[in-house]
Amino acid sequence: MHLLVTGGAGFIGSNFVHHVLEHTDARVTVLDAMTYAASPAALAGLSQERVRVVQGDVADADLVSGLVAQLTGPDDAVVHYAAESHNDNSLRDPSPFIRTNIIGTYTLLEAVRQHGVRLHHISTDEVYGDLELDDPDKFTEHTAYRPSSPYSASKASADHLVRAWVRSFDVRATLSNCSNNYGPWQHVEKFIPRQITNVLSGGRVKLYGAGANVRDWIHADDHSSAVLCILERGEQGQTYLIGADGERSNLEVVRLILSLMGHDADDFDHVTDRAGHDLRYAIDATRIREELGWRPGFRDFEEGLQRTIDWYADHRAWWEPAKQSVEQSYARQGQ
Ligand code: NAD
Ligand code: DAU
Repeated sequence: MHLLVTGGAGFIGSNFVHHVLEHTDARVTVLDAMTYAASPAALAGLSQERVRVVQGDVADADLVSGLVAQLTGPDDAVVHYAAESHNDNSLRDPSPFIRTNIIGTYTLLEAVRQHGVRLHHISTDEVYGDLELDDPDKFTEHTAYRPSSPYSASKASADHLVRAWVRSFDVRATLSNCSNNYGPWQHVEKFIPRQITNVLSGGRVKLYGAGANVRDWIHADDHSSAVLCILERGEQGQTYLIGADGERSNLEVVRLILSLMGHDADDFDHVTDRAGHDLRYAIDATRIREELGWRPGFRDFEEGLQRTIDWYADHRAWWEPAKQSVEQSYARQGQ
């Protein structure tokens, strides 16, 4: 098997590359533009016989077509992670989100259509908008799309394009919509790494608004095992929601991080809330569990969080260069 992994130098894409190398015999070509969010270090030391890294733009039609044309085996596939991924950035400047997430996906779709190659498209639970805190129903594969931010609207657009190419052009594709990931190599702009590295660098933990917003946390390793499971056993044209029943309010997460790091659990600042801030995400992962037999490996969020804290404490040289400019940018927004 030969996989083309777009965005394979990012937080989740690089985790998937490691997972594939460990659990299959596949060769991997990574296509990544190496934006500010990429971590080439996350791919360092991998077998050069099995992994090739190509720096380039997923919206570059000639480059993408050339790479997709090299996928000639029956099980070869494109796994499409490349995206602009941070909501707060999409509120400051939506333009790269439109280009990478929508035009990039369109470009890939045209290439897999031309060369008859399978695609697995990586998406997010945010395409479904948000839930009330007391809503008994979680998101399912049948929930209507209702995205709130430029980021989630661009991901929703990409999902619609994939489904249209499946129906109109018989492109072989599967989709997955996953909940909030945490784990090593996540950029310090994101919630959990931001708070851990604030504590490690002597700064203050920053909670948007009252912190009542709920996210459904899953370890990135479990996202990767779910995607590989879909590649191996998923039904063409089907969508799978990926989640691990990890609902926590942001307030709970902040208090847990502070406690695990030996600080007073109330030692944080309330800062300006995110515009249009989604209240709650929650995934019903019944389909992938029952139809494909997938199960998450991390059952204990506290343990996964402790391991993530330890990882950031051990990898200061990786995150410190980005930290100051990220905090300056947040400070300009009162965050
Ligand atoms: P990330 O920002 O850490 O990584 C994105 C990667 O894509 C980076 O390496 C970046 O260089 C690359 N990239 C960006 N623009 C590109 C372009 N034009 N061409 C080629 N490469 C480009 O993001 P992530 O958190 O790892 O998310 C990966 C995917 O998973 C995204 O599609 C995201 O929507 C989806 N997702 C993320 C989460 C989450 O919690 N982080 C949850 C569900 C789904
Ligand atoms: O649900 C999946 C999505 O999860 C992915 O599609 C996105 O790519 C990923 O970034 C993530 O989106 P969120 O907006 O939920 O994640 P973020 O880490 O930015 O924020 C998580 C929650 O924490 C959110 O409610 C906002 C809040 N927050 C965030 C930051 C950066 C804070 O309270 N303080 C902060 O400093």
